[in-house]
Amino acid sequence: MKGRITLSLIKPYAVKNGYAGQILAIINEAGFRISAMKYIQLSTNQAKKFYAIHNGQNYFDKLVNFITEGPVVVLLLEKEDAVASYRKLIGATDPHKAEDGTLRKLFGASIELNAVHGSDSDENAIRESNFFFSETERF
Ligand code: CMP
Repeated sequence: MKGRITLSLIKPYAVKNGYAGQILAIINEAGFRISAMKYIQLSTNQAKKFYAIHNGQNYFDKLVNFITEGPVVVLLLEKEDAVASYRKLIGATDPHKAEDGTLRKLFGASIELNAVHGSDSDENAIRESNFFFSETERF
């Protein structure tokens, strides 16, 4: 059975440019329920832990730098088949390849500054949501 949760980050680039409100409105209109949300800045160690599956890639250091350069909005989202549904809403990792109307096409600048993160599997959605939110922070 497909999972009902996915974890998203509105990345520092998008927050800094004032896109967070528009991104949240689009997420709401697409039918996701926000079951937890926080506004935080990740430390380098926390970012390395969150993105551990990318450790060893040639873009890893850049990725850690970009995600720690300012605050992020962390969202735990709920919807039927949440991971696939949210990945459709955000579009391809590279905004230049993302479909029109997707969050990354609308608000991303490059593969590094791609505006939002979305979990890529149910397993990672659970791991990532446990990384950010305790039981008492979920509604
Ligand atoms: P995100 O969904 O946050 O998950 C991992 C991130 O690594 C991804 O978005 C991109 O921002 C970044 N990323 C993935 N592939 C590359 C790549 N080939 N070059 C640079 N950054 C990448």
